[in-house]
Amino acid sequence: MSATYVSKNTVVKECNTGCIVIGVYAGNELAVTPGSLEKSTAQSIQTLLDNRDLPKCVGSSVVLHLPTKSNTTRIILVRLGAKDKVGATEYLKAITGVARTLKSLRADSVALFVGEIRVKDRGLDWQARRLVEKLDYHTYKFAMQKKTGSREKNWKFQICSENKKDLKHIRSGVRVGKAVSEGVRLARDLGNLPGNVCSPTYLSERAQKLDSLGIDVTVHDEAQMREFGMGALLSVSAGSRQPAVLIVMQYAGGDEGASPVVLVGKGVTFDSGGISLKPGAKMDEMKFDMCGAAGVIGALHAAATLKLPLNVIGIVPATENLPDGIATKPGDVVTSYSGKTIEILNTDAEGRLILCDALTYAERFKPAVVVDAATLTGACVMALGKIPAGLFTEDDALAEELLDAGQTSGDRVWRLPLWDDYQSQLDSNFADIANIGGREAGAITAACFLSRFTSKFRWAHLDVAGTAWESGKNKGATGRPVNILTQFLIKRSQEAA
Ligand code: BES
Ligand code: MN
Ligand code: ZN
Repeated sequence: MSATYVSKNTVVKECNTGCIVIGVYAGNELAVTPGSLEKSTAQSIQTLLDNRDLPKCVGSSVVLHLPTKSNTTRIILVRLGAKDKVGATEYLKAITGVARTLKSLRADSVALFVGEIRVKDRGLDWQARRLVEKLDYHTYKFAMQKKTGSREKNWKFQICSENKKDLKHIRSGVRVGKAVSEGVRLARDLGNLPGNVCSPTYLSERAQKLDSLGIDVTVHDEAQMREFGMGALLSVSAGSRQPAVLIVMQYAGGDEGASPVVLVGKGVTFDSGGISLKPGAKMDEMKFDMCGAAGVIGALHAAATLKLPLNVIGIVPATENLPDGIATKPGDVVTSYSGKTIEILNTDAEGRLILCDALTYAERFKPAVVVDAATLTGACVMALGKIPAGLFTEDDALAEELLDAGQTSGDRVWRLPLWDDYQSQLDSNFADIANIGGREAGAITAACFLSRFTSKFRWAHLDVAGTAWESGKNKGATGRPVNILTQFLIKRSQEAA
């Protein structure tokens, strides 16, 4: 991590960081105790506010420069809105505003006064956690392969409260925020690496490094997968020179014998579509087609860092999807690990082919629950855009858990139906099931396909095609779904304990 985060019990006039961040409510009331400011500082702030140089809308901010004889040189004032109306949305907007302003400054040591802010329906630990996560998100810079240009600064953040008894909440929030952020960074780095670096083998090597956190990692090669009979997974890697791998990560933080939570992540390190070749525009973005896998690896990293009292298993089928003389062709029929035969009508619907074998593999762990995350369909992006991920499950209680984890972590999901009525779109004349379901409801029929391989356990599917990366000027991996998966695990571990 390039940034450090510490919790601190202090007051503004005692801070000597290069920058101090203070919230301002409507009516120009500050979110710190007035007496905690040096007189001259208080006067400068008052003048600025009287001159109405801090716009009224939530999240807007302004930088105030102080005379050099003060302890600190800059104060950022940020709008929080009406004091009794600060909810999660306003709070998060304010943090985004601050992060943007910070990036434009030269300062790298920053004290943020969060302890006196009260967010509706949330506690101080949540506030501290989300503050760390959002600061870390915005200050992340992927520079691994840039030989020129700026590097990420060594940020030093202090998350401050004036009140000593608030410190333990802030401390616990900062701890979770740091662990989630490390997982997010790992997922973003893996996502951002190009396909010629981040191959299936590279992914497995990176996963193996989790053993330093006490995670046991096994990697099955193609020969083993052939022995298992994973014909669906192997049909995708057939056209690639890079061998496929099945990565299995086991974190045993819970009681021995307690059934594990199993997370399955789609790890297509490049998706050209195969023989059903994709059009050229934006095809480079298909290096991000392993972001489900990165999310699972990142969530395991976070769970182990937090030492959650829970057993968690991560399964990542990893492969490329490329055309070749021996690549799988439309019309080919393959036998999956479950024994079901699949007619492959479109080689670009490859995610479900690798996931179905990974899901069958999950059976051996007698999971308490299985959640898969996959950049599965363009149709999901059409349906929901890039705000929430798609959530599919017939298990209402599990849906509630995931919706809630999404809200808490800020990594939201929205439920789409997984009704039986859609299943017939997958009928095939030549095999037990076809791998595509026609033009209509593409995200749902993809989920329907997966559901055929999940009869042995509780299961939910997250389609993260719209949320795992950003396109355009800000092109890059977001680290989602690390946040929601980690929150899901945190909540479950609290209930298990
Ligand atoms: N990885 C893609 C899904 C995708 C496409 C994610 C665009 C994000 C942006 C997936 O493997 C795929 O190609 N799906 C096809 C399925 C279709 C052939 C039924 C799709 O969505 O077009
Ligand atoms: Mn595809
Ligand atoms: Zn794909």
